[in-house]
Parts: sequence; C-alpha cells; structure tokens
Amino acid sequence: MNGRIGIFDSGLGGLFMMKAIVEAGPRYDYIYLGDTQRLPYGNRSSETVYMFLREAVTYLFQQQQCALIIVACNTASAEALRRIQQEYLPPNYPDRRVLGVIIPAAEAVLERGIMRVGVLATEGTVQSGAFTRELKKLNPRVEVFHEAAPLLVPLLENGDTAYKNLIVEEYIRAVEKHGINGLLLGCTHYPILKAEIRAVLQPQIQLVCQDEIVPGKLQTYLRRHPELDEKLGKNGKREFLVTDITPTLEKKANEWFGKDVALEVVEL
Ligand code: DGL
Repeated sequence: MNGRIGIFDSGLGGLFMMKAIVEAGPRYDYIYLGDTQRLPYGNRSSETVYMFLREAVTYLFQQQQCALIIVACNTASAEALRRIQQEYLPPNYPDRRVLGVIIPAAEAVLERGIMRVGVLATEGTVQSGAFTRELKKLNPRVEVFHEAAPLLVPLLENGDTAYKNLIVEEYIRAVEKHGINGLLLGCTHYPILKAEIRAVLQPQIQLVCQDEIVPGKLQTYLRRHPELDEKLGKNGKREFLVTDITPTLEKKANEWFGKDVALEVVEL
C-alpha cells in the first residue's frame, strides 16, 4: 500500500501545521483536507464535531487511501478523537491510525518544566477539559488555566485586520493574570499569530506552539512503528483538498507552498 498521511483541520491552521510536518518529513506523501465550508468547529456541539470528524476520516481512508490521519484540529481532537479511536476504527479500519494533537502538546508542556500553564483555545476545546485531563494524567500537580479565544479563528480566516493586535492583547492579558509560567496555544490556528502573541506576552512566560512540537513527535512515532511506516508512500507528493475554496486559504496556500498549489474542492 502506498498510503498517504492525511492532515485534517477545519481550515487554515491545518495548512500551517502541514507546512511544518512536511518540512520535518519531506519524503512522505501528504494530503491536506480542510473543512472550510463548515468552519468554525470551535463553537459547535460535541456530537456535530464527532459527525464532521467521522465523515472526514471515512473520506480520507476510503477515497484517498490514507494509512494515517493527523487530526490537526484541537477542537476535533478534544471532543471526538477518543470516540473515533475506540468505537469507529476497530470495526471499520482496524489497521489504520488516527492521531491527535492534544497529547503531544501536553507532553511538550511538561517536558519544558511548565507547572502553571495557560491554555488559549476554542470554546469547544475549553469545555471538553481535554488539556486538563491529559496534563494531569502526566503530572497531577500541574495547574491549568484556560481562556477561550473565539474571535481569533474568524479573524484569521477572514484575512488580517486592523483589530488583530488589540484582540490578541485582550486574550493574553486575561490568561496572564493567573501567574502562569507557560502559555500553550491550544488551537491549530493560533500559531499563525505567534509573532503578535510573543510581542505582547510577558517575556518570562514560555510560549508553546504545536507546529514546533507535532512534526518531531510524528517522526518519532513513525520510527517506533515500522509496520505503519512501511505502508506509507515516500514520493514527496502533496495534495490539497478543501470543502470550499476561500480567498484567504488560497492566498495562504500559495504563500506557504508556492504559486502552483492546486486546491481541489471535495464533498465529504
Ligand atoms: N483549528 C481548530 C482548532 O484547533 C478549530 C478552529 C475552528 O474551526 O473553530 O481548534
């Protein structure tokens, strides 16, 4: 099987994550799928997020021969991934893998010695309590402070606006007041704003971004799972699928992957 690595997100954040994943492992074949038509995921019910994720996973396995899917979306990882892994995969695709971004991020926080961590995320991720659960599983003494930042995804998906810095600063001030020593960006979209966030974040607070964590952890995972690695195609192919072509995604795809990127519209 010349299986591909699928990278799924609701939109732009997954594309940014794919850029980092491709840089860390350029020889693999990748396929990005952005559910731009149904974005944002961050304010939807868990049941809806689960249905959306199941459709995306089915599509990537059935139509695109993925052997492995990275759910780059934190909201989907937080609210639906466990159900996909425990209920959906065993009877339907027992030999394929779906991995998320919450556990690698939680590990990275503790590897950096952060014991009072702020988490900026979507409303859905905050409500799920997934980061607290995974962090405390690794170290029960870690303290976690969440701040939902619902305006950042629409802001990014609609292109840069003059209000960007103002809104970023509001969210950072709110989470900083807990006396944190690290801030985890718990939404795939937020690292796109890492320069703006770093500029207003108190300098002693470490900034943890998933695009700097997940690519390395994925390479380690593939080395530890040769039986999966041997199913993966290694011809350096990249494909870009979306459920709707939006002007911002088109612009960013060209900026991050070159002018000849072809976005294909698909139905899930
Ligand atoms: N990028 C997704 C996340 O990490 C969600 C953005 C959204 O669609 O609300 O949470």
